[in-house]
Amino acid sequence: MYAVPVEATIANGRVVKLDTAAAEKMPGVRGIFHRENIGKIFRSTFGPGFAGVCEERRPPFEDDVVRYYGQYIALVVADTFETAKAAADEVRATYAREKPNVATHLEADNEPDEVLTTFGPRKRLDSQRGNVDAAFASAPVKLDQTYVTPSETHNPIELHATTAIWEGSTLTLYDSSQGVVNLRGVLAQMFGLPNENVRVISKFVGSGFGGKLWPWTQCALAAAAARQLNKPVKLVLSRKMMFQSVGHRPRTQQRVRLGATPDGKLVSLQHDYLYQTSMLDAHHEDCGEATPFQYSVPNLRVTFGRAKRNVGAGADMRGPGRVPGLYATESAMNELADQLKMDPVKLRIINEPKIDESLGIPFSSRHLLECFELGAQKFGWSKRTPGVGSMKRDGLTLGWGMAGCSWVAARFSSEASVQLRDDGMVRVASATQDIGTGMYTILAQLAAQKTGVPLDKVEVALGDTTLPEGPLSGGSMATESVVPAVFAAAESAIGSLLAVAATTPGSPFENRPATELAFEGGRVFVKADGPAKSVPFADLLRRANLRLVTGNGKSEGTFGNPKPKFSTHSFGCHFVEVTWQPEIARLRVSRAVSVMDAGRIINPLAGRNQIEGAVVMGIGMALLEHTSYDPQNGAPINSNLADYVMAVNADAPPVEVHFLDFPDKEINEVGARGIGEIGLAGIAAAITAAVHHATGVRVRELPVEIENLLA
Ligand code: MOS
Repeated sequence: MYAVPVEATIANGRVVKLDTAAAEKMPGVRGIFHRENIGKIFRSTFGPGFAGVCEERRPPFEDDVVRYYGQYIALVVADTFETAKAAADEVRATYAREKPNVATHLEADNEPDEVLTTFGPRKRLDSQRGNVDAAFASAPVKLDQTYVTPSETHNPIELHATTAIWEGSTLTLYDSSQGVVNLRGVLAQMFGLPNENVRVISKFVGSGFGGKLWPWTQCALAAAAARQLNKPVKLVLSRKMMFQSVGHRPRTQQRVRLGATPDGKLVSLQHDYLYQTSMLDAHHEDCGEATPFQYSVPNLRVTFGRAKRNVGAGADMRGPGRVPGLYATESAMNELADQLKMDPVKLRIINEPKIDESLGIPFSSRHLLECFELGAQKFGWSKRTPGVGSMKRDGLTLGWGMAGCSWVAARFSSEASVQLRDDGMVRVASATQDIGTGMYTILAQLAAQKTGVPLDKVEVALGDTTLPEGPLSGGSMATESVVPAVFAAAESAIGSLLAVAATTPGSPFENRPATELAFEGGRVFVKADGPAKSVPFADLLRRANLRLVTGNGKSEGTFGNPKPKFSTHSFGCHFVEVTWQPEIARLRVSRAVSVMDAGRIINPLAGRNQIEGAVVMGIGMALLEHTSYDPQNGAPINSNLADYVMAVNADAPPVEVHFLDFPDKEINEVGARGIGEIGLAGIAAAITAAVHHATGVRVRELPVEIENLLA
């Protein structure tokens, strides 16, 4: 059966009455659910090891209060999607309305120094060292500016979709999820079940950008309706619902104060950021994440505040926190460089730190200066003339800008299994997901690398909670997380195989200690004899009458480690060119060069694609994307793909991507760090700097709109 939610058409108030009479009479309608008849749905709570994460904790229909536009107030289930949709439109709600607060100007709510976030309590003083007030007051050169980023909405082309099936007290959910293991844990809590009674399957995800990272209320609604009707229920959100009830990147307002010497050495850095939050939830938009270590500065303070609004819960959106944060701090660095009449690359080189000054520990591997050097060279940066509007080509005014970036590198705990089979195939499995980033390919590559069998002899299984617990597809951490688990699993499977080879009667290696045997290229041989007399592993399994041997591997997570030995991040930079035609107010990004220091790149093709996609998304962030809330009713009013404008192919310039190759062995034995999100970090600051270079207009509130440039 098909379920369609009924959305509140107010953003603040209470549901006084629901009139379902007309909808109930429609043929094919099987159920209309609301708080009186949906059955019990419990809350979920956060647990150790990133278990039970959920941005919107309130179970659907828990009370009659409406806190944001589009909050679900009922659910219609029918034989067809069309009937369910028509009936949902016939459900009439009467509200006690109050004026919604969706004001765009942010001021910190009056909150204590420590507040509760989705991941537990957090001090509003993020980081501090030296004496920032005194250092800023006496700094010979000062910059004090506020940067604003709008709410943005995840718009993967695949809508959120869920299908719930009950068999007795066992729930199976097919879902478009970036984290099946976490979703299973949250659902188990919400339906009062042991984890093993819930199975979540997510074989392919049509992208997510973080919107599908954590569970949303439609999952619980589908499961609850399926329980009440004892039939499978499918629920697919509309594009409009995607803007209302499944998270967004919250609006931020960030004040950055820099103090410097006349020759460009930073003496103080203060970053005070505010973000919009929903009425009940506590998504933390961590804009200050990179600020404490990106540059060398003796005096620093980073703080945050929140402003409650009648909007849906905020959520991680590609590069959460750091992307809006680096837009602000990198913009401030670019402005400081202009103020000092200094090249922005040089300003960054002068302030390159030797260690992570916030933690007092070394970086595992930081090659940001090499990124600048290669980027500048590939872009031709030395030909830049700094004067506004001073560069021309083909009758167009050019603007050149650049920015640096970084992204966290760490591992989630991961498990994987590897099987060697008597047909010569290798199967690798982990309950992680492929959200379009190539995880199927990556797992096959890792298994092939470790076992030496060709790629077409590797089968991959993922996206199913019955498999060994794999990582979230989030934080750009999935690939770096699975490496040690897959390698450990492969080693364990190979160990079992060698033991079989050494003990099977009639085996060419019978009575050899397994320690004298080697496994290479999918073949077993005696180390001392070398590979000339090797035997394929499938032969040994067949001789032993074994279909397969299985190895399991597990690696501990490092993300959130309170006492790390190294500060682990990927680094990079972007150089961009815009063209400006003042006569027709036409602004285009005409080329981009991005250089990434992300450790060893396991799959250069997929990796390049990640950065190219991120740069295109960054053009959207800088010039196009913003979610607008109607001040009258609180609705996200541009809630469709026509009015929420994103960068598309026509906006995408030639994007040149370069990877440095410094394997980071602190992260895993391949030396691979994350690359998905870093491509979006810094790019907006590079573009706004280029816009200033071309037009002389300094835009500090994204997106840059043509109106801003018509001064
Ligand atoms: Mo990404 S925002 O961590 O899914």
